[in-house]
Amino acid sequence: MAVETNRVGAAIRGEFPILAHTTYLNSCSQGALSQRVRRAYEEYLDGWDEHGAEWGHWVERAEAARAAFARILRAAPEEVAVTTSVSQGVSAIASALPLERGGRTRIVISEYEFPTVGQIAHAQELRGAEVVHVRPQADGSIPPERFAEVVDERTALVCCTTISYRTGHRHDVAEIARIAHEAGALCLADSYQAVGALDLDVDRLGADVVAGGTVKYLLASAGLGFLYVRGSLLAELTPTQTGWFADEDIFRMDISDYSPAADARRFDAGTPPVPNIYAGLAGASIVEEAGTRAIEAHVAGLTARLVAGLDELGAVVVTPHDPAWRGPLVCVRSTDAAALVAALAQERIVCSERDSNLRIALHLYNVDEDVDRILAALARRRHLLA
Ligand SMILES: Cc1ncc(COP(=O)(O)O)c(C=O)c1O
Repeated sequence: MAVETNRVGAAIRGEFPILAHTTYLNSCSQGALSQRVRRAYEEYLDGWDEHGAEWGHWVERAEAARAAFARILRAAPEEVAVTTSVSQGVSAIASALPLERGGRTRIVISEYEFPTVGQIAHAQELRGAEVVHVRPQADGSIPPERFAEVVDERTALVCCTTISYRTGHRHDVAEIARIAHEAGALCLADSYQAVGALDLDVDRLGADVVAGGTVKYLLASAGLGFLYVRGSLLAELTPTQTGWFADEDIFRMDISDYSPAADARRFDAGTPPVPNIYAGLAGASIVEEAGTRAIEAHVAGLTARLVAGLDELGAVVVTPHDPAWRGPLVCVRSTDAAALVAALAQERIVCSERDSNLRIALHLYNVDEDVDRILAALARRRHLLA
């Protein structure tokens, strides 16, 4: 396990070449590339070149990724599946719901779900599910009470997102999970926009299932994710979407039956995404060394500075002002978000947009100067802010 250094801000920037010339505020889309992640890909290629198929070692690396995700989530490795995407993990969980086998049929989703979660929920309509959306209030928040209105004894699964990719709202996952549990339903929290930037603890979070991946605040690249499933639920959740790496004995190569692993590996699927695992381990090691508590505190300082500056500009900050209800992502209403992103890119300030919002994401490698730079750039483009 990595030794925590609390190395954030200026102390870590040298690991990320892009930061030498670019103000990088786009970790909600893709984390910045570090030298460590680049070297990890090279290590994978060098090993392949030197030794040929290193399957024993590659499978061991997949287990190392499982253990790293578990540490970051404060879970047990037996509760973590190594996936290729959130989509794979959430589809596998959905496939484990006994909808057409006389089970409960309602799936509740928040309006802030990433498309993949909403689409997977609606795909279950083909198996008899009824999908109910929980919509935001006028202030943009979706408090637990809105979930309570539609979660009942028909509900199999309640999906919420720890941090909204669209607005930066932080959900009260613990309370939503409590409401789900009171009705006998499961709670799934898509935590992609939180993991790596916030100090997560699956027990504190309260959800039964937590999905995420390495593309964003875990500082690696596409094609690697995780699915946490609470250990006490594993025996009753048997996915029908599966693959040979989910079998109780992968190397028996047995095609005579379906006998999934007893632990969360039952939610793995096919051949592990080996190159992405090398990168994912490298990215996660940066996060673990810095320590998620130190990262969260650093990010909270930066978001506070940013929100105060945006208020001074008279901008419409869509993300809550209360620090308790936001994370690393700050969204600002724009009159033309695509034009604003393009204009900022010309000054080498990298952001992104969703809906009509400019998305500004802060992470461990950002510093006060990044915040001041984007505030100054936005002041010059005030006409593109609502
Ligand atoms: C909240 C959230 N969930 C899921 C995803 C992606 O899902 P997948 O790993 O299936 O591509 C993203 C971003 O790409 C996201 O922001």
